[in-house]
Amino acid sequence: VPFLRILGIETSCDETAAAVVERDAEGQSNVLSDVVLSQLDEHSAYGGVVPEIAARAHVEALDELIEEALKRANVSLNDVDAIAATSGPGLIGGLLVGLMTGKAIARAAGKPLYAINHLEGHALTARLTDGLSFPYLMLLVSGGHTQLILVRGVGQYERWGTTIDDALGEAFDKTAKLLGLPYPGGPAVERMARDGNPARFDFPRPLVGEARLDFSFSGLKTAVRQAAQDIAPLSDQDVADICASFQKAVSRTLKDRIGRGLLRFKTEFPATFPGTGPATGEKPALVVAGGVAANLELRGTLQALCDKNGFRFVAPPLHLCTDNAVMIAWAGLERMATGAAPDTLDVQPRSRW
Ligand code: KG4
Ligand code: ZN
Repeated sequence: VPFLRILGIETSCDETAAAVVERDAEGQSNVLSDVVLSQLDEHSAYGGVVPEIAARAHVEALDELIEEALKRANVSLNDVDAIAATSGPGLIGGLLVGLMTGKAIARAAGKPLYAINHLEGHALTARLTDGLSFPYLMLLVSGGHTQLILVRGVGQYERWGTTIDDALGEAFDKTAKLLGLPYPGGPAVERMARDGNPARFDFPRPLVGEARLDFSFSGLKTAVRQAAQDIAPLSDQDVADICASFQKAVSRTLKDRIGRGLLRFKTEFPATFPGTGPATGEKPALVVAGGVAANLELRGTLQALCDKNGFRFVAPPLHLCTDNAVMIAWAGLERMATGAAPDTLDVQPRSRW
């Protein structure tokens, strides 16, 4: 195994991030630095991410953040083998800032550039944190994405399911807004739900029972709005009950959708597959990523589902589940390790990918 050390840059949404990750000749990987600057305060007044504010904040912070990441890693640009920068999907202004910066550094330092798909970063993180071998299933649930992905190998991803309307984090955020709770909504809804009665409202569980593996959450949000209107003005207990009932509906929906995904996985990879299966005593794995993975009730549901189906449930530490540059550096490292050619300097950012 060649020794590789990569500088990663992430600017696709509202986190400006830079990191240095290396893997030594024995295959041992190390996160040398992991710097993240959240723009949360700049967006919270608007109840969501404002693209123009985000792009400007990336421009202002990125140079210093990269310097900080190199400093904390105790390396200079000469000591890294490549630059990896997120080139999509995401907000185009932020992507431009990160990718152009990556190109400039690659050009000036004479290093190869890897333009990384943000989702690939999320998808490969569990190999860094838990040493997973291929294939495995990944559920990405964030403010912008809800996807169930089969990870076959580096660069080999199959999307088994996605949301046909709102992302799950978005559903949490919109529900919170309807109930007058602060942004971001996920943590606020989870907190309120603790004191609520999950049986009070029977919210819809969209697509439950259907064979396809997609998700839908906009009907749930509409039902929440209706319930809130019906019983307004809302007491704290009403809000808590709505939150608890909402979370239960989400939990049941995930149980059904992901449960089907696990069955499909078992059908496609029946006995053993490279590096896993009964031969090595290793179970197949379901990985979660994205900010919604912080939710303890949803984690509990997924853990129980995995236990029941003989899967290993893998939840990387939260700071590596949410947006960060470690995962981008790592994805670059994995690509370089497969011998993949770097990207050319005319590579363009892609807001949809
Ligand atoms: O991955 P992330 O930090 O950023 C991107 O979306 O890129 O995810 C943020 C999302 C927000 O929608 C937030 O409300 C949600 O994750 N979230 C949660 C929780 N913590 C954050 N949703 C449910 N329960 C939580 N505890
Ligand atoms: Zn993300």
